[in-house]
Amino acid sequence: MALDEAIYSRILEKKNALDKLRPFNRGALAKLQETFRVDLTYNSNAIEGNSLSLSETKLVLEEGVTVGGKSMKEHLEVTNHSKAIDFVESLVSKRNLEEIDVLNLHALILDRIDPENAGFYRRGAVRISGTTYTPPSPAKVPALMREAYALLKTKGGEPIETAAKIHQKFVDIHPFIDGNGRTARLIVNLYLMRNGYPPVVILRAERKKYINMIAKSRAENDITPFLNFLAKAVERSLDIYLDSLGKNPGEYLELAEAAKISKNGYSQEYLSLLARTGKIGAVKFGRNWKITKEALGKYEKEHAGS
Ligand SMILES: Nc1ncnc2c1ncn2[C@@H]1O[C@H](COP(=O)(O)OP(=O)(O)OP(=O)(O)O)[C@@H](O)[C@H]1O
Ligand SMILES: [Mg+2]
Repeated sequence: MALDEAIYSRILEKKNALDKLRPFNRGALAKLQETFRVDLTYNSNAIEGNSLSLSETKLVLEEGVTVGGKSMKEHLEVTNHSKAIDFVESLVSKRNLEEIDVLNLHALILDRIDPENAGFYRRGAVRISGTTYTPPSPAKVPALMREAYALLKTKGGEPIETAAKIHQKFVDIHPFIDGNGRTARLIVNLYLMRNGYPPVVILRAERKKYINMIAKSRAENDITPFLNFLAKAVERSLDIYLDSLGKNPGEYLELAEAAKISKNGYSQEYLSLLARTGKIGAVKFGRNWKITKEALGKYEKEHAGS
């Protein structure tokens, strides 16, 4: 695979640690989801040129207020994007994704901003400001988009790689007159979440890199540059999720310490075996397995006297 091995092995390790924390603490998860909503809305809209700051975006979404001096359109971009996130969340567990799901998503992005085009492929040529790339003619869009929908249906393989390919295909086709970037970034999140990853935020601060990696991947006809860029965003999200959903690292015991308090008399080696084979709720930090008192107690209770 094209994904940088060092990043990929860290991602797998962190994803594994995160999965061990399931089912997640509901309160902590709700908080993460709310933060994600504001962060993604702010950053994705700012990449597109919206001038609301992070705190203004938060105010609009959480307090329902309007910000003085900002246009109706900029406010609609914020509230529409938040509704689009709700819609994406509703699609995470849908059995099959279809063209209509993507059109509905785009319809939310441009709702009441450009009713003529919201939810419809473009009928004319489109240019991407700041680039020399000319997307395909409108007549070719529906057929080309079928390739994007085929990718969206992909099961198996590394989800980050497929997500990167979907994004690339989408922005290369540029199916809509406007809102392509915002829609593409939401679809990346949809695909990642459908495949067990936390959602990702491409930051306003890395806009230049983001645009450059898109151009590089197309020029080289190789997803590697954009894929590695996206993978860094995935790792960042995993770190945030682990931080919020994981126990304090201080609450974890080394297996040697766990062995000392084991009621069933498990040795460090036996605990290590249980951890490696996934039988006990242990989490890997770097190269070492660790476990909480609760996870140890739970396993010991279930296996008392055996
Ligand atoms: N050279 C390029 N080739 C293809 N796509 C590109 C290129 N440069 C940027 N893009 C994509 O096109 C998007 C801009 O397209 P468009 O204006 O339709 O979307 P938007 O949602 O309104 O804006 P934005 O994507 O900036 O938020 C960028 O965000 C990026 O995803
Ligand atoms: Mg635009």
